[in-house]
Amino acid sequence: MSLVITGNPGVGKHTIANIIATKLNSEICDINKIALESNFYEKNNGVIDVDVKKIKRYLKKKVLKNSITVGHLAPYVLSKDQVSKVIILRKNPYKLNSIYKKRRYSKKKSIENLDSEILGIIAYDSMKEFGKTKCIQIDTTNKTIKKTVQDVMKAANGNKKSDNVDWLSLIADKDHLKKFFSY
Ligand SMILES: Nc1ncnc2c1ncn2[C@@H]1O[C@H](COP(=O)(O)OP(=O)(O)OP(=O)(O)O)[C@@H](O)[C@H]1O
Ligand SMILES: [Mg+2]
Repeated sequence: MSLVITGNPGVGKHTIANIIATKLNSEICDINKIALESNFYEKNNGVIDVDVKKIKRYLKKKVLKNSITVGHLAPYVLSKDQVSKVIILRKNPYKLNSIYKKRRYSKKKSIENLDSEILGIIAYDSMKEFGKTKCIQIDTTNKTIKKTVQDVMKAANGNKKSDNVDWLSLIADKDHLKKFFSY
């Protein structure tokens, strides 16, 4: 069984997973890397569409013991029996937006990922796939990397509950619903 670190692009999955992998002396299983290296994708108009079915089949055969599986696709390519704990990293959409700007994401790509973060799609899909008790949400917004690592370690050991995350209320209070949802 594997510890899973998931969440939208830019929330800090790889930064945290790399540190934890070193600490625990575990191997990282990077879902996106597998998709690219094994050619489990198609390019359509410059956009990479991954084949989740193929990744899922590949991961079924792979022994995930003592590993850390990383990727936003985790809830679509892994099943409950393959995971020990699922950490969903979250980040305030305003902060996430500035990361996307630095990464020069297109408006479409930014909005898609920001809307997914605001609605908590990956958290919802993870809970549905893996069960609520295995899933812990950690808000990285105002945390140092060190603090996030500590929280993830605690969560992995069953000693931390989910942080409270409610981006929808946050943006509604600022009257920014249209800004994020009218594309
Ligand atoms: N508390 C924190 N935890 C994790 N990352 C943080 C934290 N604070 C700031 N960051 C920064 O967030 C940025 C995004 O992190 P990272 O690239 O690891 O995200 P990711 O989720 O792996 O993204 P992608 O899915 O696109 O690969 C990095 O610059 C990282 O240093
Ligand atoms: Mg990354």
